[in-house]
Amino acid sequence: MLGHVRESELKASLKDIHDAWENNKESEGSNMVKVDMTQWLGTLVLNIVVRVILGKRFPTNDEEGIHFQNVIRKTFELLGAFVASDYIPYMDRFNLGGYEKEMMLVWKEMDNIMDGLLQEHKREIESGQHFSIQSLLGSVQEEIDEHVGRDRPVAESDMKNLFYLEAVIKETLRLYPAGPLAVPHKSMEDCVMSGYNVPKGTRLLINLWKLQHDQNIWPDPDEFKTERFMTTDKHINVKGKHYELLPFGSGQRMCPGVFFALQALRLTLATLIQQFELVKPTDEQIDITKSSGLTTSKAMPLEVLLSPRSSLNT
Ligand code: HEM
Repeated sequence: MLGHVRESELKASLKDIHDAWENNKESEGSNMVKVDMTQWLGTLVLNIVVRVILGKRFPTNDEEGIHFQNVIRKTFELLGAFVASDYIPYMDRFNLGGYEKEMMLVWKEMDNIMDGLLQEHKREIESGQHFSIQSLLGSVQEEIDEHVGRDRPVAESDMKNLFYLEAVIKETLRLYPAGPLAVPHKSMEDCVMSGYNVPKGTRLLINLWKLQHDQNIWPDPDEFKTERFMTTDKHINVKGKHYELLPFGSGQRMCPGVFFALQALRLTLATLIQQFELVKPTDEQIDITKSSGLTTSKAMPLEVLLSPRSSLNT
């Protein structure tokens, strides 16, 4: 039902790249434009989610939008921060790392933003407006060219034919799960696990990252190898039934956004690759430094050179 939101937000974000490319061509005479993919993808995801939830859209480089994005980023960083008292409750009183103060500040910011958005909606409703819901990749490019062609933009209905794209997404989610420790769970009843008595109320943290890097299951676990999902592990999916790959968790508390996220990932990546040549600015390896936040990679700039592919009818 929300396919049109993903499609139109993606289109608007792609237009930003096209515009930047045109401007750059005029001013620099270059056929390539440097784009910070962290910023581009961050804005796209924010816009999709905000539009689904609030029916609102932040224009590109909008001050309020950038501020909102920064507060969300900080919230996720803090959600994943190592806070000693989460593990040893009596250390609460020492307030180590000063996280509590930082959390209160971010929470206040978030509260202000939400308050502003609610006031805005209240005004809209009162005024009668309705609140409506409104080189690795070379092979993916070949696959898209073969199954979709270049006469029309790739669509959600094409995804069933794009196996290599699916393998790239699974391998990315295996190596860099967005929530490496899922979210904390708590047992609702006393139970026995592997011979241990686990009392009711015990906090359980599941290391999804570790499961997905287990060398007894994944040969060369730290290598980005899409082939594994084209051959031996082709049957493994991310829907919570294969315990060796659980980027969205599993069971009753599994991520409810799994299908939404997969659709958005597939369409965004496929469209970007269909419409642009992507080149690393230097020969250096792209550094996806691991950090202790909720996500494994810190939100650092990821600059990629883009140029529109010729004869594509968008
Ligand atoms: C690549 C994208 C995403 C990944 C890898 C991801 C991953 C996860 C994981 C690992 C959990 C914890 C599951 C568990 O504890 O077993 C989770 C929970 C959750 N996710 Fe996602 N997620 C993604 C996108 C989304 C999206 C797009 C939404 C909403 C539109 C969403 C909403 C939620 C919610 C509400 C929960 C909490 C569920 C609960 O505790 O009952 N997620 N997600």
